[in-house]
Amino acid sequence: MAQLAGLIVSEDDGFKKHVGRMLRTGPIPLSVLDERLARDGAAPDVIVVDARGDASSAMRTIERMRATAAGAGIFAVALAADPDLILQSMRAGANEFFTWPPPEETFHNAIRRMAGRRETAIGSKPPATTLVFFGAKGGAGTTTVAVNCGVELARLSKRSTVIVDLKAGLGEVSLFLGVRPRYTLIDAIDNLHRLDREFLRELVVKHKSGLEILAGADHFDRPGAGDAGALEELFRLLGRQYDYILIDAGSQINSCTVAALYTADQMFLIGNPDVPSVRNAQRLLDRVRQLGACGERVRIVMNRAAEPFPIPPKQIESALGHPIHHMFPSDYKTVSAALNSGVPLALTGNSDIASQFDRFTRLILDPNAQIAPVAAGKKTALGIERLASLW
Ligand SMILES: Nc1ncnc2c1ncn2[C@@H]1O[C@H](COP(=O)(O)OP(=O)(O)OP(=O)(O)O)[C@@H](O)[C@H]1O
Ligand SMILES: [Mg+2]
Repeated sequence: MAQLAGLIVSEDDGFKKHVGRMLRTGPIPLSVLDERLARDGAAPDVIVVDARGDASSAMRTIERMRATAAGAGIFAVALAADPDLILQSMRAGANEFFTWPPPEETFHNAIRRMAGRRETAIGSKPPATTLVFFGAKGGAGTTTVAVNCGVELARLSKRSTVIVDLKAGLGEVSLFLGVRPRYTLIDAIDNLHRLDREFLRELVVKHKSGLEILAGADHFDRPGAGDAGALEELFRLLGRQYDYILIDAGSQINSCTVAALYTADQMFLIGNPDVPSVRNAQRLLDRVRQLGACGERVRIVMNRAAEPFPIPPKQIESALGHPIHHMFPSDYKTVSAALNSGVPLALTGNSDIASQFDRFTRLILDPNAQIAPVAAGKKTALGIERLASLW
């Protein structure tokens, strides 16, 4: 799906907050640019201009915006649908006109139209898919699932794939993959103005599967609350360079993980079939709904789900009001051997859990694919194929 950038031009914080929420909660992932970044050259795809005050100053703003962002969709928001004002806005360069407050559905339809026009215009690169992995509790297996899915995605799709470790302080993605990063996420967000393909290539580490890693910071306090805007911009820039972006968002809801949730095409909520996971998952789902970050993008994943289940899957589904999208078995020996060797499960061979990652990833690549469930205990030749495809 498209990853768009929006800019709000208004002096009124209430307007910015209301429109910011509408932009972020629509059907298409959209990050809201900081006005400073926009001045530094980040190009917005949608610009919402507050035209509720002085009309002639608003018209000048629209003209200026049209001159600097020729391809952007410009939305004017006024207090009343005055025909003269509508005409003036269109002449100044606006594509859409709304009365305040804009009706959600009409506004979101305008974004859809604008995204469609933009995709036709850009044509060449298919839009990136962003997958966010979020833990219902610490230690549920979020990093294990994100890393192994990333390796499978890079291997199966042969498309550019990056995994971003968002956890503050000693993120574990690079450790799980056995790579040593020279740079981290913090180097990327502190240098957004020069984050082109060449510079990104310096910052990421490439795993032999093809997966690229933007490693977690070794700071304990970054990324922090002050980094959320820069992260939103980072995800948007990554969307221009990669086909798949995976984000290991850890298990804490804060402004940085919220920035990740807003950009997600799919959010995988990773839990274990136990009481703390289900209770926290309920709270997180409520929070996601409150944030307006489309609940239908959430997929529930149960890790370490072995019979006898502490809570039966049907009961978990009815408690969460969401179906379980996927269950990974518990296999401590295989998972810890992979972890200790730095070779991801997907490449270690013939285990049920490796086959489950293959299936999970094929469903991301093609949600309508007819893939037979892997029966527990059934051995497959996938491990050998996997190794063969790497060398
Ligand atoms: N399916 C599984 N079967 C057995 N052990 C597992 C499984 N998945 C993960 N583990 C083990 O559980 C531990 C925690 O996994 P992981 O680090 O992926 O969790 P996390 O949710 O990312 O933790 P944190 O909250 O610290 O980031 C690790 O020791 C890992 O090897
Ligand atoms: Mg983790």
